[in-house]
Parts: sequence; C-alpha cells; structure tokens
Amino acid sequence: ITLVSSLLCSFTFSTAVAGDRLIMAQTLWRHGARTPRECYPNDPYQESFWGVPWGELVKDGMRQHFELGHQLRRRYIEEKGLVSKTYSRYETEVRSADTPRCIESAMANMAAFYSDSPTFPSDESGWPSSWTPVPVHSRPFDEDRELEVAVSCPRVNQLSAARENQPKFQDFLASKWTLFTAINANSGEEFNVSYNTISHMWGVLRVEKGDFNLTMPEWITDDFYNGLQRANDEAQDYIDGQEGFGLPDDTELLRLRGGFMLKEMVKNINEVVGNTTTTKYFVYSAHDTIQRAILLSLGIKSGIMGSGNPYYASAIALELWMKNGEYFVKILFSPDSKSDLVDYTSLLPLKCSDGLCPLNSFIEYVNEYIPKGAEVDHK
Ligand SMILES: *[C@@H]1O[C@H](CO)[C@@H](O)[C@H](O)[C@H]1NC(C)=O
Ligand SMILES: *[C@@H]1O[C@H](CO)[C@@H](O)[C@H](O)[C@H]1NC(C)=O
Ligand SMILES: *[C@@H]1O[C@H](CO)[C@@H](O)[C@H](O)[C@H]1NC(C)=O
Repeated sequence: ITLVSSLLCSFTFSTAVAGDRLIMAQTLWRHGARTPRECYPNDPYQESFWGVPWGELVKDGMRQHFELGHQLRRRYIEEKGLVSKTYSRYETEVRSADTPRCIESAMANMAAFYSDSPTFPSDESGWPSSWTPVPVHSRPFDEDRELEVAVSCPRVNQLSAARENQPKFQDFLASKWTLFTAINANSGEEFNVSYNTISHMWGVLRVEKGDFNLTMPEWITDDFYNGLQRANDEAQDYIDGQEGFGLPDDTELLRLRGGFMLKEMVKNINEVVGNTTTTKYFVYSAHDTIQRAILLSLGIKSGIMGSGNPYYASAIALELWMKNGEYFVKILFSPDSKSDLVDYTSLLPLKCSDGLCPLNSFIEYVNEYIPKGAEVDHK
C-alpha cells in the first residue's frame, strides 16, 4: 500500500492525459476440456477407455484455448494496443500451473495470441503455420501456492473440516441420503457421508455424462445426476469459505486459498506502477479452483455465476487503467472461449464510478485477503 500510494502522490505528469488508457492486464484462465481426473471402482469408463491419461486436455480443450487466445488477441493487441503483435518476453509473461493440461492450454492459447507475430522461421518446411513458440513458466506443484489451491496446507483442511462439521451443514448432508445410498450401493466403494464424496462423484459424472454424453449405468438416473449437481453447487462455495449454513465468510480460509495469487497480482501491479518491469500482459493458466478462490475473495463470484463453477477456458481479467493521471482497476470475466470479456467492475464492494475502481481502494480491500507473517510459511 505504502509503495503504491507514495508513488501515486509523487507521480506527476507533464501532459494531462485525456480519456483512459489500459496500462496492464492480468488474465487467469481455466484449462480447456479434459478427460475425468479419476473414476469409481465399478465405472464402465476406466482410464483405458479414454485413450489418454486421466485429466488430460482433449482436442476440444485445445480448440477452446485457441479460440480464447484469439479473443484476447483482439482485445489486447488489436483494440487496446496493450502489447505489440510481435512476441516479446519484455511485454508478455506466461505462467502455468505445472499440471499438463494447464501448460498445454497455455501453449494453445499463445499460439493464437501471437498468430500474427513475424517471429518464426517461415522458410522451414513443415513448421506449423504462424506458430511462434512462447515460453510457459511453471513451478513444481508442491511449491505453487499461487496456482494450485490443493497444495497441502493443514490449516486449510482444519478450517474446511470445521465448516463441514457445522450442525446445519451436517443436516444438509443428511438430507442428501438418497445420493449417498445410491453411491454406496452401486459404485463398488464405501464412501463416507461428506462433501468430498459429492464433489468426487460429481467431478467424474459431470465429464462422462455432461461433457461426453456417455451412456450411464442404470443407477445413474437423470434425477440422481441433477441431484448430485445441485448438492455440489449448494455446498462448494460454503466449504471454500463463503457465508452459508449459518456461518459468515471465513476470511482466513479465503486468504489461505486465494490470497497467494492475489498477492502475486498486486505485486505485478506495484511493479508496473513503480516502473520496475516492462511486462504489460501477465498470463496465468490454471484451474477453476483458483478462479473461484479469487472471485470469492473479491466478493463477486455469486454476482457473476451464482453457485456454479467456472467453465473450461473461462477467464478472469484484472486490468490496470490510467485516467487523468490516476490509476484504476477493472475486473472482467469471460464465461467460455466463445464469449467476450464482460466488465464486472461494478460488482466489487468498493466505491467505483464510471466502471473504474481507484487502485488504492482496491489494494486496501484485497489486503485483508493476502496472507501475512506465519501464514506465508505454513505448509
Ligand atoms: C471421508 O473419507 C476421506 C477419504 O478417506 C477422508 O479424507 C475424509 O476426511 C473423510 N471425511 C469425513 C467427514 O469423514
Ligand atoms: C446424447 O446421447 C443420447 C443417446 O445416446 C442421444 O439421444 C442424444 O441426442 C445425445 N445428446 C447430445 C447432446 O449429443
Ligand atoms: C521507466 O524506466 C525506464 C528504464 O529504466 C525509463 O527509461 C523510463 O523513462 C521510466 N519511465 C517512467 C515513466 O519513469
């Protein structure tokens, strides 16, 4: 905060800039369509059925990210002129979660984003047309507190378990007994009555039936399937820290899940404002889990998508703008690869006008959701 506000005060402009100007953008997207990450013991669709490993990006997922890359190119290269059409690592930085589907998504996306870059050997026979290789950085899973929300953290498990154990939530689980009965009678495994069981089964069936329209075994009726989706939607944001079932928001849990990434985004903004980086387009290729964590911390998830989940190749964009010598942020979201980014800045719980939020009030607000002290070291 101090860095930014002192810069804001001491920064003077020789010429008053009329209108507003995009200074930087940070995108955080979900990978494209994938195979299930796992199955249940009696599942007719075991790993061998898919022909590629569990959780692998499929061709549709590659297509989705190629489309999203074109959308983002239109906005950030053609319309706003944020970065040049010629790829430069001084302007664009791409970081991915280490999960293969996220890295693959980043590569497909950047192939489209820089499809007009003259930086490839066009005289090489067999070279993919218009493809410039763009570096995609990543960190080992266990060290990636920013992008991999599932990195082991005992305190997160403790806080989520406390929410699960709330009597009102236990009543909710008990009210879903027909789901648990069906699962335990048919899946080939004895699952406990917990949110984990719901999210595990929903995660498998959503892909098999929802994405691939595979024929389901008889016990998975439409009622069962829809009931499972409803149960998952009703529980997931609460388990991850949003108010519900008689409990308020759990700021500590929100901070430990999404706060490392928020911290990274604020750090990038400070570096741009402080002129210590030339990068203007920061790209993060990751998962719905971190997208949800960020949107929950910003208090805008339900306003954007209700209790649902960010779809494949959906993207959050956090933009830094300048108007009359002052910095502002905007937050946008695109629900899938075919849709344009929609401006949701007015949903932020801040005093924003004309779709612009003053940077210092944004930073002050998110500060509560950024881990500090011992929280940073805890694993
Ligand atoms: C349910 O079982 C899973 C896996 O065995 C375990 O990690 C989890 O803690 C259990 N949850 C409850 C509420 O018993
Ligand atoms: C899904 O599969 C069923 C039967 O296998 C078929 O009738 C239906 O049209 C398919 N739906 C879609 C969206 O492909
Ligand atoms: C930012 O830094 C660069 C290189 O250090 C310098 O050339 C440029 O004038 C600086 N811009 C501003 C606005 O201070």
